[in-house]
Amino acid sequence: MNASPIDVQAAFEILRNNDRGGYTVPTHGLYPFQWSWDSAITALGWRHADEARAWEEAEVMFRGQWDNGMLPHILFHKDAETYFPGPDVWGATDGIPSSAISQPAVWATCLRMLYDEAKDRDLAERKMTELLPGLIRYHDWWYRERDRDGTGLVVSFHPWESGMDNSPAWDDALARVPTIDWEYQRRDLGHVDADERPHKTEYDRYLYLVDFYKQNGFDSDAIYRDCPYRVLDIGLIAILHRGTRDLVALCDAFDRKADSDRLRDDMARTEAAIGKLWSDDRRCFLNYDVIADEPIEEVTTATVLPLYAGLANDDQAQEMVDLIREWEGATSFAISSTHPSSSRYEPQRYWRGPVWLHINWLIALGLKDYGYEELADRLRVAARKCVETSGFFEYFDAESGAGCGGDDFSWTAAVAINWLA
Ligand code: GLC
Repeated sequence: MNASPIDVQAAFEILRNNDRGGYTVPTHGLYPFQWSWDSAITALGWRHADEARAWEEAEVMFRGQWDNGMLPHILFHKDAETYFPGPDVWGATDGIPSSAISQPAVWATCLRMLYDEAKDRDLAERKMTELLPGLIRYHDWWYRERDRDGTGLVVSFHPWESGMDNSPAWDDALARVPTIDWEYQRRDLGHVDADERPHKTEYDRYLYLVDFYKQNGFDSDAIYRDCPYRVLDIGLIAILHRGTRDLVALCDAFDRKADSDRLRDDMARTEAAIGKLWSDDRRCFLNYDVIADEPIEEVTTATVLPLYAGLANDDQAQEMVDLIREWEGATSFAISSTHPSSSRYEPQRYWRGPVWLHINWLIALGLKDYGYEELADRLRVAARKCVETSGFFEYFDAESGAGCGGDDFSWTAAVAINWLA
């Protein structure tokens, strides 16, 4: 494979081609709707061509916010035959049809970047004023509904909520979930090779959970009490924490003192609790299986994200930096989603090994915050090599750099514009 410099115009062209009028699909075919964290990251690509269009991405997303503040992970704006499970399976059809779970809360961080660095100040002031109440309600929802006992650690009810769908970290917790007893037709395998996608055994359980929320009428109390999958997802917790920090800064800028005080209390609870997830052995934080009441030993890109959140103390940061240095040395193309020493590592299968550029970007942001500029830059160079070698794919084989999953992918294009170019 020959490397060529990043073609920024081609990246903008991908965003334009994936634009469905106010929102950007992750890629044509495989993902024909609006996904929450894709959309937030994609907005940061848009802003370099068209700031109004970047703000619109958020406006359209927040139109799908639930009354209780939840921001769904998918908004099904239009019907499409190329994706399963669609709106009929989820069954959440009040307002814009949507999924019934959320995704990592990157919105506040992305919108703060958009706001702080905006060239059109009037537009930024206006849009941020409109969006801020929804953002606050979204973060309040996480702390209120997903941490009812005020432990400081929000719980996740679906592997898809992590955004890292089939990470080996979820294997054992998911294996405890019953399987569904009805037939269904997956659509992803019509677009992508089966060896780059999750197995059927996983899908049967993903769908059980989807059905479980619907059977429970999306009642938060019942789901919190009975959901057969309950995980403290360190990626989700870290991304939420960083998002809340950015949200507090926005609240301060907009004189919303009561909101920023409350959110600061939420942050303080997480800071007090996070030590429970640290592992001296693994030299990083770990996910936690709440039902089994034990830490999940897999080292994945999520387990170093507390760097991005500012949740690590200096010693922990140094340990994670050492881990990342080795990790980066062990793969040729940036940090693989699962550590290569894991027996469950597969370099080309979705979240079990491939390199995802937006996650490398988040880790690099964290490294910079802790003063490890040089290592952050090494990640950038390694991530750039993926695009130079293979173009704007969904994810990349950690060993060959070959593009995997969907092509012409929005967040890969956006990260290339915003970080790599
Ligand atoms: C997959 C990914 C998830 C992403 C979605 C759309 O489900 O695991 O992180 O948001 O695709 O790209």
